[in-house]
Amino acid sequence: MPEVINQFDAIVIGGGVIGCSIAWRLAQAGMQVAVLERGKVGCEASYAAGGMLAPLAEANAADGFFHLAVASRAMYADFARELKAASGIDIEYRTEGTLYLSLTEEDDEELDRRWQWQHEAGLNVKRLNAECVRKLEPLANEKLRWALKFPDDHQVNNRRLIEALHAAARNAGAHFFPHTEAHQILSEHRAGQRYITGVAHARGNAVAPTVVVAAGCWTGKLLFDGSSTLIPVRPIRGQMIAIEMPATGLNHVIYSRRGYLIPRLGGFVIAGSTTENVGYDKRVTAQGMAAVINKAVEIAPQLQEQAIVETWAGLRPFGLDQWPVIGADPKVNGLLYATAHYRNGILLTPATAKAVSELVLTGNSSINLSPFAPGRFGLEPPIG
Ligand code: FAD
Ligand code: GLY
Repeated sequence: MPEVINQFDAIVIGGGVIGCSIAWRLAQAGMQVAVLERGKVGCEASYAAGGMLAPLAEANAADGFFHLAVASRAMYADFARELKAASGIDIEYRTEGTLYLSLTEEDDEELDRRWQWQHEAGLNVKRLNAECVRKLEPLANEKLRWALKFPDDHQVNNRRLIEALHAAARNAGAHFFPHTEAHQILSEHRAGQRYITGVAHARGNAVAPTVVVAAGCWTGKLLFDGSSTLIPVRPIRGQMIAIEMPATGLNHVIYSRRGYLIPRLGGFVIAGSTTENVGYDKRVTAQGMAAVINKAVEIAPQLQEQAIVETWAGLRPFGLDQWPVIGADPKVNGLLYATAHYRNGILLTPATAKAVSELVLTGNSSINLSPFAPGRFGLEPPIG
């Protein structure tokens, strides 16, 4: 038998924004929490992301996903302040809002559709003519036709966010185990029910009655008592480029239907992205870079004269129906999932952390998690 190295109240598998934020909330509540991370904390999707908090730009209808996204966005100002106090790190929460440009006739149709459902839902969305947009963003392409403005869709610096969450969780007493891959979730059968007992990992066994799976796109690789877990999550690669900011500058996050630009403090703008189903391959490719540059230059042509500062790629965790998987396993006491946040895990961090920590601490969540229930895929559990 592998050696038992420690005993905790809860084990979180995965040290991205989702795992770290849940660990922080549980440690704040006085629990002994371990975070098992197969690599370095915060080096996967959470590091690669753009940090946009953009439900109006990303969602397609006022559905369950949209309501969670808006609820999480509403929590961000306080979340940023609390994180600063708990970690000393400013996550650069910026409130200029987001522009969504129409550059072609087909774009007009998409923007009209978006305007329609958002206006009908009473959301804060404005139509701006080209002249107005150019006053806000002089670098926007001259072929710009009009734009939507989402005054409440903001951004944070996601690399600072993961650093802050890691520090805040550590300061609250969470124990981090980097370079410790979880292999298998362990359980036992008692009085007709299945209960979590811990996790077998690269360095032995850790014991706990609660395990939260926050393993991003690797979730489906975890074993449950020797079988694979219930939740299939696959990687969708996104390639990004940081480009030196032109002297005129950009202020807003700017979307087109094909890509986006994110102005950052420190004199650069992030251009994204690709959406590629290429497995666990994080390479930056020539084709990907060409695509991202084309999208960026279409929004702000002057960027083509600027220096490239950095390139990278990350793997978005994609669930079966594009929606996150958040909640308790229907068959196994003490097993919870917080995964498959796909394109919006940074946005959804505060709400996910609140909902999952409430579930662990009280058995209920003040946020409606039914659309995200782990049991919704109707897959047969690996054990009875
Ligand atoms: P991750 O950050 O991937 O963390 C999961 C962690 O689990 C990893 O560190 C991994 O090493 C660890 N792990 C996996 N298996 C194991 C195991 N067996 N044992 C131990 N550890 C394990 N979202 C937004 O809201 N706004 C954006 O603007 C945005 N832009 C994006 C742009 C790109 C290019 C990409 C790739 C993503 C973007 N996202 C954005 C999505 C966002 O990055 C993700 O949804 C979010 O980071 C998911 O967080 P996570 O903690 O679940 O995953
Ligand atoms: N949310 C932006 C992206 O995933 O590319």
